[in-house]
Amino acid sequence: MAIAPDLTLPHITLVLAMSLDGKIADAQRRAARFSSAADLAHLEEKVAAADGVLFGGGTLRAYGTTLSVRNPDLLAQRRQRQQIDQPVQIVWSPSGNLDPKFRYFQQPIPRGLVTTADGAQRWAETGLFKHIWTVPEAKTQPWNWPWILAQLKAAGIHHLALLGGGGLTAELLGHHCVHDIFMTVCPLILGGRTAPTPVDGTGFLVAMAPRLQLLSHRAVEGEVFLHYRVRPPPLQGVGNSFTLENNQPSPTD
Ligand SMILES: NC(=O)c1ccc[n+]([C@@H]2O[C@H](COP(=O)([O-])OP(=O)(O)OC[C@H]3O[C@@H](n4cnc5c(N)ncnc54)[C@H](OP(=O)(O)O)[C@@H]3O)[C@@H](O)[C@H]2O)c1
Repeated sequence: MAIAPDLTLPHITLVLAMSLDGKIADAQRRAARFSSAADLAHLEEKVAAADGVLFGGGTLRAYGTTLSVRNPDLLAQRRQRQQIDQPVQIVWSPSGNLDPKFRYFQQPIPRGLVTTADGAQRWAETGLFKHIWTVPEAKTQPWNWPWILAQLKAAGIHHLALLGGGGLTAELLGHHCVHDIFMTVCPLILGGRTAPTPVDGTGFLVAMAPRLQLLSHRAVEGEVFLHYRVRPPPLQGVGNSFTLENNQPSPTD
């Protein structure tokens, strides 16, 4: 059984590539350009399927850019589905401290920002973001993702591709807001205590850890493409965060 659909939230698909030792970048936390052309095509397919793409400020700082849809077949499929050519590419940055010289700001894509009032103020007059979602302070301690995602859904984002990094992914998984996970395991070892992993944050107790159902697997020239569905949480309630800060095994565990 998958996470029960909450009609106020978009369907969220996490797409990541990691090394065999579970790192999504090297210890210098730079852009992760270690996967194959096949993996990039797979990522573009997931981006093309989405109405919106969400990534963290750390990821934008590492890449300076984002993956737009360029494959003509994928563009044609979007038009057939009555979607605009490019999904809105949304960065989550509480501080809004992003360099306007990033190539991201020149890419021919609609851009979105999820931020605080201070972060929004930096960008309000620039016209560089088509959408700015300002999250009230009371909903940032901790970040109220079900509420934020409901705003995205209300703006017409029904399918959201989540592209990392580990900090943002931990936030959404901790709120039971991720439905599908596509993970590409790449044939290299990065190591390093400070290298980011698919899910950083404070972590989950084993008893409370999100559980997955394997839907498909395939190997292509040394890479393994995995598709998992996230099972419903052990304690019901979208919006109840269950990271190490607050999760307790249930009395029945
Ligand atoms: N292999 C892959 O598939 C893949 C995919 C994506 C990313 N990556 C890698 O992942 C790395 C980036 O991941 P990341 O986890 O560092 O960043 P991230 O998840 O992209 O972004 C982290 C966000 O957390 C916010 N933040 C940091 N500390 C906070 C705090 N105390 N309270 C509230 N918000 C806070 C930051 O906000 P501010 O913007 O305000 O600082 C930032 O926007 C890069 O090395 C990138 O190459 C790999």
